[in-house]
Amino acid sequence: MTQTLTEMAVEVLTTADGREKTALSHKHAATWFAARKAGETLPVGTATPPLQPARPDKPELLDPRDVPRRRPGSPAGRIAILHAVAHIELNAVDLHWDIIARFGHVPMPIGFYDDWVKSADEESKHYNLICDCLEKMGSHYGALPAHAGMWRAAEDTAEDLMGRLAVVPMVLEARGLDVTPGMITIFEKAKETDTVEALKLIYAEEVGHVAYGSKWFHFLCGRHDLDPKDVFHDLVRTYFHGFLKPPFNEEKRAEAGLPPDFYWPLADQTPPNGR
Ligand SMILES: [Fe+2]
Ligand SMILES: [Fe+2]
Repeated sequence: MTQTLTEMAVEVLTTADGREKTALSHKHAATWFAARKAGETLPVGTATPPLQPARPDKPELLDPRDVPRRRPGSPAGRIAILHAVAHIELNAVDLHWDIIARFGHVPMPIGFYDDWVKSADEESKHYNLICDCLEKMGSHYGALPAHAGMWRAAEDTAEDLMGRLAVVPMVLEARGLDVTPGMITIFEKAKETDTVEALKLIYAEEVGHVAYGSKWFHFLCGRHDLDPKDVFHDLVRTYFHGFLKPPFNEEKRAEAGLPPDFYWPLADQTPPNGR
């Protein structure tokens, strides 16, 4: 019997090993798009995803305050940055499959699934590229501790598709657009060209993920006759803990369909030294 898309998603979510998870993610994405190309659509179905995805024994997950600080000037510091990126990419693979599995009961146009399957496939490629870079530097994913709180946004928005879109692609992935250029500069200075190439590819593809978030968020606002900006502010204040951090990458955010009046009102606008 044909596997439904939500069953495929649950299979990825319940696979622990990073390389295995991403291989499965790529395989399922290829199956989905092969059917689409042939003019068929696999059934989306409904499934029950785990509250948290399966993860490898390593890395050890620590409270962000306990994750050692990175000094970008040294090779060890650059390894720490890439390790954190690999962790983000692995979470992103699960986040994109989770939005498919978690909200299978909400009727959505088929393009919604196309967009998130494509994103999940891209995140799988990002994870593997960064793991390859880490391995070339003599390290690997799991060698260092990683951030424990990364799945929190998914749990907090497990029952609210608009909240999920607001917080995951439109806040967290948009934040990636703000910080990636600085990371690229660090690796350019170190003349680590493979890593520079990998980060540039990630940077280009992440614009699309934020854009899909904005597109489907606006779609749902239209369906429910809601004002997108007001709803976005309400949802981020409900589900996201803390302020958004400037400086923002206004150019790439605009390219992704995020106007300044969406994010600036949510920013921490107190000057750095208090008052
Ligand atoms: Fe990514
Ligand atoms: Fe992404």
